[in-house]
Amino acid sequence: MPLRERAPAKVNLTLHVLGRRDDGYHDLDSLTAFAGCAADALTLEPAAPFGLTVDGPFARPAGDGDDNLVLKAARALAARVDGLALGGFALTKRIPVAAGLGGGSADAAAALRLLAQLNGLANDDPRLLDAAAEAGSDVPVCLRSRAARMTGRGEVVTPVEIAPTPAVLMNPLRPAPTAEVFRALGLAPGETRDGDAPPDDVAAWIARGRNDLEAAAVRIAPEIAAGLLMLASQTGCRTARMSGSGATVFGLFGSPQEARRAARALAKAAPAWWVRSTMLR
Ligand code: C5P
Repeated sequence: MPLRERAPAKVNLTLHVLGRRDDGYHDLDSLTAFAGCAADALTLEPAAPFGLTVDGPFARPAGDGDDNLVLKAARALAARVDGLALGGFALTKRIPVAAGLGGGSADAAAALRLLAQLNGLANDDPRLLDAAAEAGSDVPVCLRSRAARMTGRGEVVTPVEIAPTPAVLMNPLRPAPTAEVFRALGLAPGETRDGDAPPDDVAAWIARGRNDLEAAAVRIAPEIAAGLLMLASQTGCRTARMSGSGATVFGLFGSPQEARRAARALAKAAPAWWVRSTMLR
């Protein structure tokens, strides 16, 4: 019997860039939450040989290759745990790729959860956390898939309690490669910016926050500006912002009904876009 895990999309409610490090990564401070209704699905068949198959609306040939984060995470864990039992992974991609939704990172984290289950490892086993950080900056926060503050290059994760928040996610189906967006930000190595301590009140934290990658991402994918304008002008959302390095933008709403109504209207106004209403938690 295969083991199953959902890999929910990650949404950066805020994303502040605090500087560029000498190793090329950027120091971040980001409040991150996870989408209930937008998720990839991953299974692990213990009896099958180690490998990965990919299907679903956002499967692409490159996803089958060895560069896929599922296999990278599995190898990172196998390097740390003697005799780790593996198996065959099957991934259904329902989250747009290179979209600022951490799809690949969520898949990698789901792979680590499945391997932990198969091998009887605790969720807080340090080898699991180390393998997650090696697989990518966003993988550690995706291990728990609940709201958290990410600092460092993203790998330092502190859980945060947030009220379940109705949201609409929309993506123009144009990839915004993360490394390219960070480069477009144009910070010099060692350059830093002041970071404010976030307010204790999470609602104020979200309302007063921003995504420092927005302007750089708009230069690479100008549709982002159109998405933000549609959210702000055509829906009654409280906040409209970009997630991660884009191109997904999101609106936050006072009720699930309002979010669903907005999603229907946006899907009609922008039929080429991927639009989902969801609860963030
Ligand atoms: O860690 P990950 O492999 O997901 O990062 C992809 C790319 O995004 C990095 O190579 C780097 O260019 C950029 N990045 C960054 N600062 C971060 C996270 C990612 O500059 N905190």
